Amino acid sequence: CQVVVLISGSGSNLQALIDGQKNGSLDIDIAAVISNKASAFGLTRANDAGIATQILSHRDFADRESYDQALIQCIDAYQPDLLVLAGFMRILTSGFTEHYLGRTLNIHPSLLPKYPGLHTHQRALDAGDQEHGVSVHFVTAQLDGGPVIAQAIVPVEADDDADALASRVLVQEHQLYPTVVQWFAQGRLSLVEDTAHLDDQPL
Ligand code: GRF
Repeated sequence: CQVVVLISGSGSNLQALIDGQKNGSLDIDIAAVISNKASAFGLTRANDAGIATQILSHRDFADRESYDQALIQCIDAYQPDLLVLAGFMRILTSGFTEHYLGRTLNIHPSLLPKYPGLHTHQRALDAGDQEHGVSVHFVTAQLDGGPVIAQAIVPVEADDDADALASRVLVQEHQLYPTVVQWFAQGRLSLVEDTAHLDDQPL
């Protein structure tokens, strides 16, 4: 399964995928890592693993449409089977999401449909939630709104602040994302109408 990963930052989820590729637990070949930010540490992780990298800065484009069209060209040069968003901090146009419909995954640090968008950990704390977590979903035009494939729950502790909670969620992210990517690589995941299926069963 040929994979392109999009990042904007640290790339710890990318690292989990690189590690899985290396140790043979993931049947993927990460063809390229593309970042909209030159400073993203994930680019260093990719370079260290011998994976091709590209920087495509949104600042070089007049609008969202033209950036996303350039991004499509950049991605399609690698002919991926799967596009993995791993901390890619851009809102995508429907032209982009349609192009990769059914073959784009995103990881979002909340129990969707709770808290799409930013500052999820603080919002969970402010709401007094006792449970928080992470979701992996198929990407559609709706921001963080595509069909959920899998979630991991993280209990909120009494003395949690957003950073402490985020770091415990991140530990779960590094387990959950490779699991779901492997399902896709094995041909077990599909998007039918607006529902995610695993082994032909609706999730
Ligand atoms: C993760 O919390 C992910 O859920 C969110 O952005 C963060 C990326 O972290 N979408 P990293 O770059 O993978 O370390």
